Amino acid sequence: MQQTQTWAAEKLTQIEEKMIQVVRRNQGIIPYTTDEQGHFKDMFKEIPTWWTNGFWGALLWQMYTLTNDDLYQQEAIATEAKLDGNLMNAEGLDHDNGFKWELTAVENYRLTGAKDSRNRGLLAANNLAGRFNLNGRFIRAWNDWGDLNRSGLAIVDCLMNLPLLYWASEETQDPRFKQIAVAHAQTAQEYLVRPDGSVKHIIVFDPETGAYLHSEGGQGYGHGSSWTRGQGWGIYGFTLSYEYTKDESFLNTAKQIANYFIANIPDDGLIPIDFRQPNEPWLEDSSAAAIAASGLLELAKYTTGRDQEIFQAAAVKLLKALADHSCDWQLDHDNLLTSCSASYDEENHEYPIIYGDYFFIEALAKLAGHEFKIW
Ligand code: GLY
Repeated sequence: MQQTQTWAAEKLTQIEEKMIQVVRRNQGIIPYTTDEQGHFKDMFKEIPTWWTNGFWGALLWQMYTLTNDDLYQQEAIATEAKLDGNLMNAEGLDHDNGFKWELTAVENYRLTGAKDSRNRGLLAANNLAGRFNLNGRFIRAWNDWGDLNRSGLAIVDCLMNLPLLYWASEETQDPRFKQIAVAHAQTAQEYLVRPDGSVKHIIVFDPETGAYLHSEGGQGYGHGSSWTRGQGWGIYGFTLSYEYTKDESFLNTAKQIANYFIANIPDDGLIPIDFRQPNEPWLEDSSAAAIAASGLLELAKYTTGRDQEIFQAAAVKLLKALADHSCDWQLDHDNLLTSCSASYDEENHEYPIIYGDYFFIEALAKLAGHEFKIW
């Protein structure tokens, strides 16, 4: 373990050298991906309500706590303020309030005690709680899309938004937020997780009666397949619900998904978009690897013996594969990971995505022994 800790610390030093330059030349923007020259584009300008717009703030806070360089803090605070318009846009708010405000406002409040940030976090949590469907016991995922009514949809990704609710309950001493988070996590356990430990992406309920209707393939290869980023959200998300509730069944579910994920890691450690995608073309999703690695390291904190060793070893394998094969270390390119894929069905695959970089840094920081509470 000492050896891997040293390796992770060396990689973080390399990242620190690169990121300070990246942030200096990208002040005032919120990136999602890069242009062909490897320069970040401003996603906030394009889609101010985009679900990933909190990850840049998270990355800045992560870098701030690693380096104490004020520029990161200054940019993180500016990013958070830019998201305020979202809070007054009902159509722009959805279950990803956690990704947007847990990672920006709540983190700022944790680190600095800023009252405005607490307010933003609570507004976002109240809105998220308002998406709970009482009969189906799930948090509604997305908003309607044109004529498509999506009020009965719940998705695995939402597990990562639950910490906003757990935080709100701790902060206000009002158990409602936590009750909703637990109910959603239990529904996810019942309907999203298959007996083999794999997870579905989308489950659909009758929004009136709450009856379970069917599942959908979502961003993976197809119905019944195994979207790797979703498996990563499952490992990490159930571990987080365990952290906040100490309910052993959430820990067991996280272990079950982790075992499934580990059994499917290819020899080279590079993670496909879907564990059931065809061999040709072989499409990678580095973000799934980074999320799973960080989730496995989180899970390892709550396990012992062989379980702990296996989860840690798998995380190290994933991170080393990313660092050696799917990371752009050039100082004049803004991204780190090169081969993220948002969805199997989209036209483009294997490109930089900001949450991939965030989880890569987060996982390396954990491996290096840097404690940083953000979820
Ligand atoms: N909605 C989160 C994701 O694409 O993974």
